[in-house]
Amino acid sequence: MAGTIGISAETEKGIKDLFNGQFYLGAAVSSRQIARPDPIKDQLLQKHFNSIVAENCMKCAFIHPQKDHYSFKDADAFVELGIKNKDFIIGHTLIWHEALPNWFYKNADGTFLSKDELLENMRQHIHTVVTRYKGKVNGWDVVNEAIMEDGSWRKTPFYQILGEDFIKYAFQFAHEADPDAELYYNDFNMTANGKRAAVVKLIQRLKKEGLRIDAVGMQSHISMRYPSLEEIEKSILAFSNEGVKVNISELDLSALPRSNAGADVQATAEYQERLNPYKNGLPEDVSQKWNDRMESVFSLYQKHADKIDRVTVWGLTDADSWLNFWPIRGRTDYPLLIDRKNEVKPFLKKRLSTQEKTTAKPVYGQPYEVSLSDGCKLELISIPKGTFEMGSPEEEPGHWPDERLHSITFKEEFWMGKYEITQAQWKAIMGSNPSGFKADDHPVENISWSDAREFCKKLTEIERAAGHIGEDYTYELPTEAQWEYACRANTRSAFNNGKTPTENGNVSPELDELGWYWDNSGRDLKDIYGSHPIGLKKPNTWGLYDMHGNVGEWVLDPYAGYRDDPGPDPRYLGAGSNNVRGGSWADYPWGCRSANRDYYGYYTASSHIGFRIVLTPSFKEE
Ligand code: XIL
Repeated sequence: MAGTIGISAETEKGIKDLFNGQFYLGAAVSSRQIARPDPIKDQLLQKHFNSIVAENCMKCAFIHPQKDHYSFKDADAFVELGIKNKDFIIGHTLIWHEALPNWFYKNADGTFLSKDELLENMRQHIHTVVTRYKGKVNGWDVVNEAIMEDGSWRKTPFYQILGEDFIKYAFQFAHEADPDAELYYNDFNMTANGKRAAVVKLIQRLKKEGLRIDAVGMQSHISMRYPSLEEIEKSILAFSNEGVKVNISELDLSALPRSNAGADVQATAEYQERLNPYKNGLPEDVSQKWNDRMESVFSLYQKHADKIDRVTVWGLTDADSWLNFWPIRGRTDYPLLIDRKNEVKPFLKKRLSTQEKTTAKPVYGQPYEVSLSDGCKLELISIPKGTFEMGSPEEEPGHWPDERLHSITFKEEFWMGKYEITQAQWKAIMGSNPSGFKADDHPVENISWSDAREFCKKLTEIERAAGHIGEDYTYELPTEAQWEYACRANTRSAFNNGKTPTENGNVSPELDELGWYWDNSGRDLKDIYGSHPIGLKKPNTWGLYDMHGNVGEWVLDPYAGYRDDPGPDPRYLGAGSNNVRGGSWADYPWGCRSANRDYYGYYTASSHIGFRIVLTPSFKEE
């Protein structure tokens, strides 16, 4: 089983795995690492992070130093690195008053360009950069740092020449260039009252204009005392109440004393000493305080995991942090999650080791791994409680009337299989392998709804006998609502990457990154025909793979119209025409949509239907 995902002996967990199913964990990558990659740091990036952002190489001064000259070398390499690592890739940043070359807004004589000239430069710049990375960069910091702490507009050249409309144009141009990319407004000090209120207004205004804004980035360059957790929480809530996600976009926690403005003029040795107190290492008590603060900051993020899409730290290791140079040059700071010896910080080490210990039994909020025979593993992801809109809007291409939108709430804890059940896993429990496209790391298929439930029953017996679960929990097929809730992971689009195709066609580039469907697995009836190894496509933000395509998935419920008042944790059981969700290698895009409902007789066995499991509270079979 070498080379398979999820069922081979697991490699050691990285920091990102602590937040699986909650948010992406990102890191800013320095231009040095891009231009001259240190292989150890590349490994750290791969192991600990599942998102990257360019620390500098996409800023205007670097990527577009002269009006008629772009310099894409580093940015290209950065994007390639992200693709290689299957990262969620962030472009930083399109419109910012810093790292902004003069030609962009000034004439040779120092006077400002005209409105039209600046607008044209913005259009050209944004179109060129965003188009180049279309379909590769997943989200852009469109505008950076446009608002002051008191809520007034920062008087940047953009503002002075174009007024506040420059923001609107920036978002419009970015969306024109890549309609699928997520777009963000990014700023620091987002806990300042005035700035918080002004950002809320900005979101409202962009939305009112019909412009796309997916999230607000809270940079989060924080210190040991400021801001308080309460203030951070207030901002997370304020922004998400406006219907956008929150990105923690540049997190670092300086361990050093704050300097006053203008600190570079303080030349006395004594002063230098005071501001750079930990040149030779961080004292134990300071380290303890740093770790405690970071632990509570991350716990707060986890509390709001349904609102936060990504937490990105501004640099890889302490040695790489910009804070060693800013606001004072030549200090030694300790702001990041990995230290100068490439070791993860104590608060994370502790989390990683408790996680390893507790995988013996499922702990809600944490992933769980069942060990099957022959070293075969089955990974489950903890699904957060919450409410979602099941079904799809009428205007969604491929929408059927039986997908009527209605709200469902989950109050009970459950876990869901990260992947479809594989043939190796099926063999480990059932002994045989009925699949049509035989390979250990492909999903099992050619099994009926009853067969799939038999698998769940056996797995429950084994896990109870091992003392891992009690009578109160059962392995089962997901209910239809559980399936769609987990598939969507808070998305409302046709597919769980936030994308909806514009038409009900046979081909969907929106689906291609997520799933194996007819156009990429059936059409030629040649090598690619049929099911594929699990886990090769992009997971959703909760970490679930292959929810769209590969094989269709049996769910528990018999097919029926949605009930008017389903109540929380709805569960219907019965063998009849049973639902199959998510579409398969044999389906057109619309059949793979999050909301699509398909049904087959419970006895049907077909090479395009398999399943995944949930670990869910036990219930009585009526
Ligand atoms: C910083 C980089 O980390 C430094 O290497 C560079 O010299 C200056 O910019 N807010 C932002 C980031 O949005 O782009 C800044 O990055 C840090 C503050």
